[in-house]
Amino acid sequence: MSGFIVDWLNLIIRWAHLVVGIGWIGTSFYFIALDLSLRKRENMPEGVYGTAWEVHGGGFYHVEKYLVAPKSLPPDLLWYKWEAYLTWVTGFGLLVVQYYWNANTFLINPSVLPLLPSQAVVISLLGLAAGWFIYDGICRSPIGRNTGILAVAVFVLIIAAAYIFSHVFSGRGALIHVGAFVGTIMAVNVFGVIIPNQKKVTAALLAGQSPDPALGAVSKQRSVHNNYLTLPVLIMMVSNHYPMLASTGQTWLVIALILVVGGGTRHFINRHDAHDPITKFWWALPVTAVALIAAIYVTAPRSDPGLAGMEVSEGEVLTIVARHCVMCHSPRPSHEGFDAPPKDVVLVSIDDVRRHGEQIMVQAVNGDAMPLGNETGMTDEERRKLGAFILSR
Ligand code: HEC
Repeated sequence: MSGFIVDWLNLIIRWAHLVVGIGWIGTSFYFIALDLSLRKRENMPEGVYGTAWEVHGGGFYHVEKYLVAPKSLPPDLLWYKWEAYLTWVTGFGLLVVQYYWNANTFLINPSVLPLLPSQAVVISLLGLAAGWFIYDGICRSPIGRNTGILAVAVFVLIIAAAYIFSHVFSGRGALIHVGAFVGTIMAVNVFGVIIPNQKKVTAALLAGQSPDPALGAVSKQRSVHNNYLTLPVLIMMVSNHYPMLASTGQTWLVIALILVVGGGTRHFINRHDAHDPITKFWWALPVTAVALIAAIYVTAPRSDPGLAGMEVSEGEVLTIVARHCVMCHSPRPSHEGFDAPPKDVVLVSIDDVRRHGEQIMVQAVNGDAMPLGNETGMTDEERRKLGAFILSR
């Protein structure tokens, strides 16, 4: 019963997370495209930097951007902040119900590091908090004055986080933590820097003073980081459904390539939105393609020539699945927290193993995503036997 309730909680929070996340990233994409498409036109009001004409849903819209702010501001100014805050809140909720609640199953892998659930949770919380403070410190330090060096420093910080998380947590636990690490930086950028600075600027203007231009410059820097991190963070959030991403033993490299693919794609879209000539930004496409091919290459399963000749009996296979899989993958799982076979995958008979052969290769032979957290200590030899049996079908 408790597994059933937690599953519903998980589903509801996940649904909310998707909705607010789409809202956040949607407004972010929209405002960047709007900003980059502003043009100087005749008869613009005083203080207006540029205007854009848009058509959507049967109507035409005319938007004017004020560089600082108009002389007077209406009381009903629209702010865009709750999308970001709620994306973090629901994301953290999901981390709790999915990873903290069943930390032994999802977050910890004793063969990586034998942690107690409480230790794993503390490391997770400290890791996310440390990520923000280190990132913020780098941005405020002299490094932050040079956009290029700062970009490299943030890139290295995220790769270092991937390296550390993958030496502490299970494969999927590590990947989701890199996503949460980046997502936390992005959300706190909005909550702790961009919105407070905007409030100070607004208050100064309402009081008839001229706001400090540094406030706007800092917000711009953080917002550019958020812009380039949106695509990588999305793939990190769905990464745990793809065990090949964590099966290389070099999660940091996979994350580095994801950052290049996502950041490069975002750059291409940005410059396209800005109507730059393609000759100025075409290079982003080959760079992205090479990084993507490299990611596919490093995550490709290594062929194991020994498997083909290995003789494995049906009895041995059934013993392996009985020891490592059936407690979850049976019509009535005996494992705590499971009321139904996950993903409807039942592995009690030899026919079941045959039917799910391809998936088992991905989950338990080429990678070690299953059994979850390797709770039962499945050995490499057992994985090879399972693989040899599936290949010999
Ligand atoms: C502790 C419970 C548990 C154990 C033990 C376990 N699994 Fe799983 N299995 C899961 C969960 C949970 C999922 C769903 C994962 C997800 O949604 O990403 C799953 C999913 C799967 C899938 C489907 C993946 C897909 O989406 O295509 C396969 C195949 C699988 N497991 C094979 C195995 C094999 C083989 C073993 C034993 C070597 C095993 N599992 C042991 C919990 C378990």
